[in-house]
Order: sequence, then C-alpha cells, then structure tokens
Amino acid sequence: MFLAIHAKEIHKTFQSGCWKKRKKAALQGIDLQVRQGEIFGILGPNGAGKTTLLSILSTLLLPDRGEIHILGLDSIREGHRIREMINLSSGNANFLWSLKVEEVLHFFGMLYGLSGKERKARVESLIQMFELGEHREVSFDRLSTGMKQRLSLAKSLMNDPALLLLDEPTVGLDPNVSIHIRNQIQMLQRSRGMTILLTTHNMKEAEFLCDRIAFLKEGRIQALGTAQSLKKMIRIGDLIKIQYRGEVMEESLLRFEGVINYSISDGLCEIMVDDAEKRVGSLIAQLVRDGTHIQNVNVEQTNLEDVFVQFSKEVDSDPSFCV
Ligand SMILES: Nc1ncnc2c1ncn2[C@@H]1O[C@H](COP(=O)(O)OP(=O)(O)OP(=O)(O)O)[C@@H](O)[C@H]1O
Ligand SMILES: [Mg+2]
Repeated sequence: MFLAIHAKEIHKTFQSGCWKKRKKAALQGIDLQVRQGEIFGILGPNGAGKTTLLSILSTLLLPDRGEIHILGLDSIREGHRIREMINLSSGNANFLWSLKVEEVLHFFGMLYGLSGKERKARVESLIQMFELGEHREVSFDRLSTGMKQRLSLAKSLMNDPALLLLDEPTVGLDPNVSIHIRNQIQMLQRSRGMTILLTTHNMKEAEFLCDRIAFLKEGRIQALGTAQSLKKMIRIGDLIKIQYRGEVMEESLLRFEGVINYSISDGLCEIMVDDAEKRVGSLIAQLVRDGTHIQNVNVEQTNLEDVFVQFSKEVDSDPSFCV
C-alpha cells in the first residue's frame, strides 16, 4: 500500500508577542498516514490545528519537529519536487485583486510551466468544470465569496496534482454549488485516483466524501476511522420513536436484546438501542405480538454531528483512539 502522506510526530508551536513570550502549541505530535487514492477528512473545532496541519503538509510551513513524507518524498529536503505534484485550495483564497478570473488561471498555468496551447485548454476545461464562464472577465476584487472559492478550486487543479489539499472547500458556497463541488471532488478521486485531504465543518460533507476521518482537537488526533466506526466509538445509541395506541409491555422492552434505555409517555414510546438497523424490525414485531397498535415509527441514528459534539466535549480523552 503506497502512502500519499506519511507524517510522524509533527509538532508546531507558534510564538508571538513581545520577546515571543506568547506560545501556542498548535500541533502536539501528529501521526498521520493517508493512502494513495483516498479521500481523507480532518474534522475538529475552531483552533484545533487543521489549517496549520495542511500548511505543513503542503510545505508552506515548517514543523518544529517530526518527519513527513509526501508521495514518497521527504518534505524538507525535497519540498520543491513535492510542490510540483500537489496543490492546495483554501476557503479564504486571495489572488491579485486586479486580475480577471481567466487571467488568474493563466497566471498559475504559467507558474506551473504550461505552454500556450496546453495552458489555454487547461484553463478552458477548469472554467467549465467550476462553471466560471460568465465571470471570466470579472476581476478578483469584484467576485463574490463563492466565486472566489470556485476560482481557488479551479486553480488547485492547474497542475493535475497527485495530492490535493482542500481547506474547507465548500465554506461560503450555496447548497447547489456545494453539491456540485462535492461531486467534482468525488469524480477526481474516482476517475484520476487523486488523493484528497480535506478539512471541513460540514459533517454531511465529511460523511458523503471521506473514506476515513481524523478528529483533531488541541493539536492532537483524538480519533481516527471511517464515519461508521467513529459513530460506533461514541456508543450513544440510536433512538427509535414509536407512536402507538393501546399499551406497550414494559417486560418485553426489558427483555429485548440491544435496548439501552426507554421511556413511555402518552402515545409515544422512545427506545434507545445499540443499533437501530439491526433491532427495529424485530422490536416492532414484538410490540405487535404484544397487541400494541403501531401508528408511526421514526428512527434517529447517531450521526457524525453527535460524534463531533461528543469529541469536542471530552477534555482528557485518550488521544490514540483509532479504528
Ligand atoms: N501564524 C500564527 N501565529 C500565532 N498563532 C497561530 C498562527 N496560526 C495559527 N495559530 C494558532 O494555532 C491554533 C491552530 O490554528 P488553526 O488555524 O490551525 O486552526 P483550525 O483548526 O484551522 O481552526 P478553524 O476551524 O477556525 O479554521 C490556533 O490557536 C491559532 O490561533
Ligand atoms: Mg482553519
């Protein structure tokens, strides 16, 4: 298995203020392995260190300590070669204010050494891909936030990177455009086998896109795994809400495998189970056998948002929680 990113024990402390007295440990020993062709998500609260990590992995920032290999190359000694093969797009991209959309793309095309014809074709395909056609003549300072974001994503594909780092790729975009961008990201992975590392605050996006996710907090990876395994990790259970007529036999609920907790009030029975998908069918069948008239069933499964809230709350959790 080839690793697109292999990072060991990355540390980064920012020093600022008078005599550099103010210190902020942004990353405190990050170990990360991202497989080639994978979409890997980094989640975490504000200030967790996500952007710092992406800046270090993209060779824009030096770590204080640690060893990093990107696409098999040493990030310190072979930074220039890495920069030819990767690209980065950030949610708050800033290009020269007076350049038009088309000019920004040509400018970066030139930086990546693309010649006239090839560059023109690449710029056109990126303009199409990110639906920037109507805005090609608009200067950067007159673009809306969403357009700037789309331009930044288009720019990040200029060198057809093997590894793409995306810092909050859909922040500030309207839902339609976000969906379009997510589909593009997925298409890049599927059709070109591109490795993509992204940060996001959008849990649905993480769940939809990412093969694996790391949850970062206070500069440490608190948990790592698939969305499914992260949900299992917090074990808060799924909630089955049943509206009924008649009676619910409590003895049945007490005996039923997988029931964690339940409450019964007038016409509504809420049952917390370990895994709703596994239990809901037989649970309903049991209630029907008991003579309960079921009117409506609703299942609320643990989602990534619950995971986020739970991990954000935990103060001293075990930092090596991996699945
Ligand atoms: N250049 C800098 N100088 C001093 N401190 C910094 C600098 N850059 C980041 N930090 C601090 O490092 C910590 C991590 O910041 P970072 O931007 O990586 O967080 P983040 O997870 O990307 O947050 P967000 O979700 O808000 O984007 C924060 O406490 C931040 O204030
Ligand atoms: Mg950030």
